[in-house]
Amino acid sequence: MKLLEGLKWRYATKKFDNTKKISDSDLEKIKEAIQFSASSYGLQLYKVLIVEDKAVREKLKPAAWGQGQITDASHLFIFCNYSDVNRDGIDEFIHLKAKTQGIDSEALKPYGDFIESKWNDKTAEEKSNWTAKQTYIALGNLLAACGELEIDSCPMEGFEAEQIDEILGLKEKGLTAAVLATVGYRAAEDETAMQEKVRKSKEMLFETI
Ligand SMILES: Cc1cc2nc3c(=O)[nH]c(=O)nc-3n(C[C@H](O)[C@H](O)[C@H](O)COP(=O)(O)O)c2cc1C
Repeated sequence: MKLLEGLKWRYATKKFDNTKKISDSDLEKIKEAIQFSASSYGLQLYKVLIVEDKAVREKLKPAAWGQGQITDASHLFIFCNYSDVNRDGIDEFIHLKAKTQGIDSEALKPYGDFIESKWNDKTAEEKSNWTAKQTYIALGNLLAACGELEIDSCPMEGFEAEQIDEILGLKEKGLTAAVLATVGYRAAEDETAMQEKVRKSKEMLFETI
């Protein structure tokens, strides 16, 4: 199973080779793995920024605890969740679904009403947490895709979201940085690559009821 091989091959890369770039075709495959991620109701309430610009990444680095991957990797992915959505946002999805699946939009209105009522049940904090959680599914797919392509990656939560939001003007767009991923090729001196994977045994991790 290629997926498992990739998952065992990959590791959270600490040091990237800053001279190596991933190809455009590999980048498209990674984007597609993100695009085809499952999301609650299918709403995909997030945006993924792909930062190539070195100057922007230099600015972002202090906000990510000075972690070298931010500037050394080939690409930096910033998964940003929408903290709020109005009926227009839900209708946008309903129209896309209707058009794609050849359904009358009106027939999907009750579905839109249901999503809106569930959304309105949440507090502002719950809404933001819920949309942020969706980004982790996409992050997981990025990691798996990179593993299969033998491209190195590092998932990253070590950053100050408010600072990232400020630098990139995300608040104005209703977005906030949820999680990051750096993607590229490991540096020859990255010792982490040699380390044995630390994982709970299946007995510890699973319980069959
Ligand atoms: C959500 C998340 C956030 C993480 N944040 C960071 C980070 O900020 N910096 C870093 O070097 N590694 C980070 N890691 C990597 C983990 O430490 C690593 O995945 C874990 O130790 C398991 O090792 P492996 O991924 O190499 O198998 C993060 C991992 C995840 C899933």
